[in-house]
Amino acid sequence: MSLQTMAQRSADLFAKCVGHPPEWLVAAPGRVNLIGEHTDYNDGFVLPMAIERYTVIAADRNKNRQVTLHSITTGESATFPVRSGVERGEPSWSNYVRGVVAGFQQRKRKVPGFDAVIDSSVPFGGGLSSSAALEVASATLLELLGGGPLEPIEKALLCQKAEHDFAGVPCGIMDQFTSVLARENHAILLDCRTRTTTSVPMTDPAMTVLIINTNVRHKLADGEYAKRRAQCEAAARAMKLPSLRDANEPSLKAARSKMEEVAFRRARHVITENERTQEAARALQASDWASVGQFMYASHVSLRDDYEVSCKELDAVVEIARNIGESGGMLGCRMTGAGFGGCAVSLVKTESVPRITKQIEEAYEKKTGIQATIFSSRPAAGARVLK
Ligand code: GLA
Repeated sequence: MSLQTMAQRSADLFAKCVGHPPEWLVAAPGRVNLIGEHTDYNDGFVLPMAIERYTVIAADRNKNRQVTLHSITTGESATFPVRSGVERGEPSWSNYVRGVVAGFQQRKRKVPGFDAVIDSSVPFGGGLSSSAALEVASATLLELLGGGPLEPIEKALLCQKAEHDFAGVPCGIMDQFTSVLARENHAILLDCRTRTTTSVPMTDPAMTVLIINTNVRHKLADGEYAKRRAQCEAAARAMKLPSLRDANEPSLKAARSKMEEVAFRRARHVITENERTQEAARALQASDWASVGQFMYASHVSLRDDYEVSCKELDAVVEIARNIGESGGMLGCRMTGAGFGGCAVSLVKTESVPRITKQIEEAYEKKTGIQATIFSSRPAAGARVLK
């Protein structure tokens, strides 16, 4: 569904529920990470792009100091007061909005009561940052509702804190940053330590980013994410370094006896992934697609073996991609996002997209008994005000 159709649908439902058209319409995109996985909370490098999948909010102020939310996607509603400090509550998706409202209040910005209708085309639990899209769309709305614009990096940090405090996920900065700052037709190389970005153009019509949703989500995800983060911190401490960003393979080898074997492997993933990400960004700049693809495959192996965040369904997709190979138009494929299910991202020749889609659909179902959902996306722009 196009962004325009979603905006129209949200506005129509808002008018039906509230009795007048919305004053504001905002949108924020999900993202796909091309490479640089589990590096952001280690002060490392990531190379994501925003996708043409959005969370849209139609809204207006009300006079009752309450926030009333309605989700088109789940059919659920949530109401909470804005008078005092906002707290966590049900349904669980409302916590992303609650957390952002709390962030504005903590910054002493005015938050009025408001009614909102929310729609989303970012698949939930697919590793494409549906939560960041909701947080960033909410923050974009609150800027309009009286808070005034936030500086973009501060906006991303506010949304990240909403995820930490209200969803309990100790995530890094990649998702929120991408949803706020992405540029159309560009991937962004983000240095998560300095928070500086380099835009990498992706305009070659001969190449397509194809996203393969395994349509599985293993329960482990959140607990294991926090565990990985702690293991990385333990490895950095053992090396007496502020973070794994400061480590390299020789320094890791030298400290091997000072850490548990599992921390060693986690650190090895982060160190090699940081290198691959920077190399992949250079290759992308040079339109060296074959090399980008090889870095993607290598990233997957490292995430599977050293970081242990893949699963059999993601491994199946990557194996199918490898079998299609460069001669079949497939240049590279890897899991994307936190892992334990969700999506794989691949780089394919545009002319081969229809055939590759069919090949993956058939082979994946044969291997797993599950139907995959496959779609392509150009790099989209970050959050915006539609009305
Ligand atoms: C999730 C987090 C991100 C990042 C990725 C893994 O998407 O929200 O901050 O850590 O996992 O790269």
